[in-house]
Amino acid sequence: MSDQQSFETLAIHAGQAADPLTGAVVPPIYQVSTFKQDGVGGLRGGYEYSRSANPTRTALEENLAALEGGRRGLAFASGLAAEDCLLRTLLAPGDHVVIPNDAYGGTFRLFAKVVGRWGVEWSVADTSDPDSVRAAVRPGKTKAVWVETPSNPLLGITDIAAVAGIAHEAGAKLVVDNTFASPYLQQPLSLGADVVVHSTTKYMGGHSDVVGGALVTADAALAEELAFHQNAMGAVAGPFDSWLTLRGIKTLAVRMDRHSANAERITEVLVAHPKVTQVYYPGLPEHAHHEVAAKQMRAFGGMVSFRVKGGQEAAVEVCNRAKLFTLGESLGGVESLIEHPGLMTHASVAGSALEVPADLVRLSVGIESVDDLVADLQQALG
Ligand SMILES: Cc1ncc(COP(=O)(O)O)c(C=O)c1O
Repeated sequence: MSDQQSFETLAIHAGQAADPLTGAVVPPIYQVSTFKQDGVGGLRGGYEYSRSANPTRTALEENLAALEGGRRGLAFASGLAAEDCLLRTLLAPGDHVVIPNDAYGGTFRLFAKVVGRWGVEWSVADTSDPDSVRAAVRPGKTKAVWVETPSNPLLGITDIAAVAGIAHEAGAKLVVDNTFASPYLQQPLSLGADVVVHSTTKYMGGHSDVVGGALVTADAALAEELAFHQNAMGAVAGPFDSWLTLRGIKTLAVRMDRHSANAERITEVLVAHPKVTQVYYPGLPEHAHHEVAAKQMRAFGGMVSFRVKGGQEAAVEVCNRAKLFTLGESLGGVESLIEHPGLMTHASVAGSALEVPADLVRLSVGIESVDDLVADLQQALG
């Protein structure tokens, strides 16, 4: 598959040539643990055992690498499994890492409760402010700067190119969690990031029917190390999950266009609503880093957060009253979701520097009719 092809074409074809045996136009689900060898060590296509490699997972991994403009993609059982593999590859006891002051709660928990226990130090920075990152890095000791952009749940925006420069000057790798944007809207490797992380559970899968994660890098040496750790640690994506994710990715571009258009209309309604005190969406001109988002993103995505007059009780009430917006965790599926981050996805950051406002509601705007979504929000806000 040529690098010249556009994103939409790569999404459908990269890593997915017709099956050489049957001509099947979609990679089959190789639901198999082991492969017959033609004599000891005589592997067919390099396949030996499905933790090490499986053809359906290979198709997904090649596809992910092509979409992010990387050299190697690796698929995992979840986003957190991908993050765990990356952290244990990059870090050793005594190392230091910079983490953002707004991030998925489970990512924070991994640093605070798991990696921290193994002697890795971490500092929190406002990664949307390059000076804050500059002040937090410890040259020679900081091995990774971690960025989520847009961030979960406050839709903060980090200038990837600026922070890449700061990380590299300090001898650290820049990791970008690209879950909210997807590679259709933003390509961190082309802006200087060393590794992209995904919860493929979200927009990549796109249908709320699979949990998965991914790492993509353009750095050949790092790719080798990550692949070694993926096999050594073993939290790989299974064949069926890989197949579902590939199936979702085929429509990523059209879904992201619709998610973005629906979200933009919904932010207009929220901004004008008397019960809403603040709207967080990088597409809004009044967003603190709208210009950066416009520079590095194709559109602004389907995630919107807002604060409600009346504190936590009022925010919870809005979540409970919504009907078409389903009350639930996760995001990025075709169906719209609503949640209260403080009590749900981000409960694990309570009391930390990443604590989220109690009156915050987060929407994952789906691709239903936007008029129906607006009507539901209007009634939920009362
Ligand atoms: C931005 C972000 N990164 C990573 C994760 C973790 O992914 P998973 O739930 O697939 O382990 C999530 C999950 O919500 C997320 O929102």
